[in-house]
Amino acid sequence: MQDSMFAQLLFVHSLLRYVVLADVALATVLSALALRSLPEWRPLHKIVTVAAIIVVDLQLLLGVALWFRSPVVTAARADMGAAMKAPMLRFFTVEHGFMMLTAVIAIHIGYGMAKRAADGARAHKAVAIGFGLGLVLMVAAIPWPMRAQLARPWLSLMP
Ligand code: HEM
Repeated sequence: MQDSMFAQLLFVHSLLRYVVLADVALATVLSALALRSLPEWRPLHKIVTVAAIIVVDLQLLLGVALWFRSPVVTAARADMGAAMKAPMLRFFTVEHGFMMLTAVIAIHIGYGMAKRAADGARAHKAVAIGFGLGLVLMVAAIPWPMRAQLARPWLSLMP
């Protein structure tokens, strides 16, 4: 019997990924467009980047909570040597969390530099690069349905 707390965490983590990707992509595109035209830092840019930081941090926290409750990770931690040789166990125990953490750090660096930037052009450049890098890393670290041994559904529903 799958523990219901884990099932709820997995559902929210699975669903929130779309909000995270959409918000980080929007922030990246808005800043890239601003760099090509009028690089002013407007309230819209602040709202979108702050919202991105909030959902990314929430997803990170949910991920850490999942890591401690996941039957997959628990099985891997019982024999880490063997788990490192098994692609799916290695992915959910190490690679996914590590790449997502790197993505979150890149997004926070971009946001921090934008906040301290002397002008709009520098702020948009920091967001376009930091959030853009974070986006690419997150897309690469998601177990999409077409990823052979790592495949997960488009959305993990609660049993
Ligand atoms: C911050 C960006 C993150 C995104 C966008 C993300 C996205 C996802 C997605 C889409 C899944 C598959 C859910 C499903 O089965 O439908 C997943 C599973 C998982 N994530 Fe994340 N994740 C993120 C961060 C993290 C972090 C930082 C950790 C841990 C340190 C983590 C731990 C896990 C674990 C353990 C599972 C699988 C749990 C299981 O089924 O046993 N995630 N994640």
